[in-house]
Amino acid sequence: MIILDGFGVANERNKKLNQHILEHIQKGNRRPHLSIILIGENPASLSYVKGKGKACEVAGIDHKLHHLPDDVTFNEVLSLIQSLNKNPNVDGMILQLPIPKHLDENTLIDAISKDKDADGFHVINQGNLYQKKPTIQPATPKGIMTLLAHYNISISGLDAVIVGRSNIVGFPVARLLMDQGATITVCHRQTKDLASHTRKADLLVVASGKPHLVTKDMIKPGAIIIDVGVNRVDGKLVGDVDFEGAKEVASYITPVPRGVGPMTINALLENTYELYLKHI
Ligand code: GUN
Repeated sequence: MIILDGFGVANERNKKLNQHILEHIQKGNRRPHLSIILIGENPASLSYVKGKGKACEVAGIDHKLHHLPDDVTFNEVLSLIQSLNKNPNVDGMILQLPIPKHLDENTLIDAISKDKDADGFHVINQGNLYQKKPTIQPATPKGIMTLLAHYNISISGLDAVIVGRSNIVGFPVARLLMDQGATITVCHRQTKDLASHTRKADLLVVASGKPHLVTKDMIKPGAIIIDVGVNRVDGKLVGDVDFEGAKEVASYITPVPRGVGPMTINALLENTYELYLKHI
């Protein structure tokens, strides 16, 4: 069994990105800039945003956190997004999710210029992804694909089972895996017998938000396991897969923490750099 070292791979890629950025700076260009909009005090979001800021520092990307209160109005968030859209020094921005229920998430995401959409969540960028056109890819699916490629894991012909159908992970990762020749099953809350599907998976991607939903008995021997979950249980971070059991049967597995999380952040920074190249 091989542990897929997302932390190490992401760190290496962030440092490489820093070298590319330094070359631009030596030519007299400005640094890339990522603006992060965070609304409220969700502890997981606070921690993700901190990780994104730290990684920006490793890569040499300027970043600014716009931290807004829980009771901010829709128009206040919209006018911040519009001013960042107009600012020529801002290459990318993200609206950290989830946001409070009184705010219309889809409208705010689509208010972000598609050319500054570092998360790849804008309807046009998602549409391009589904039509297999060049686009900014959503960070978690992109990070997962990069990690699999780093370990030379061939996707073609695999039976891939994805648990979770969100717009930010499950649905786009299904698209990317299918493009590389996997046969896809997407499971979700209404799936009748989850284990009957997961047991057939050569490649299992779990993004359910439920700690330890997937146990050893639900995994086909030799399967590749990608755990997107980050859950705090008794003060400890755990994934959606029971790592200790799963590692006894898997061929490859991502740990939590230090698996998919750092790869997501690296993909976000690489997206920001891609946008920067278009802007300078
Ligand atoms: N919340 C959980 N994952 C993500 C992500 O990739 N981007 C944003 N903006 N919010 C998230």
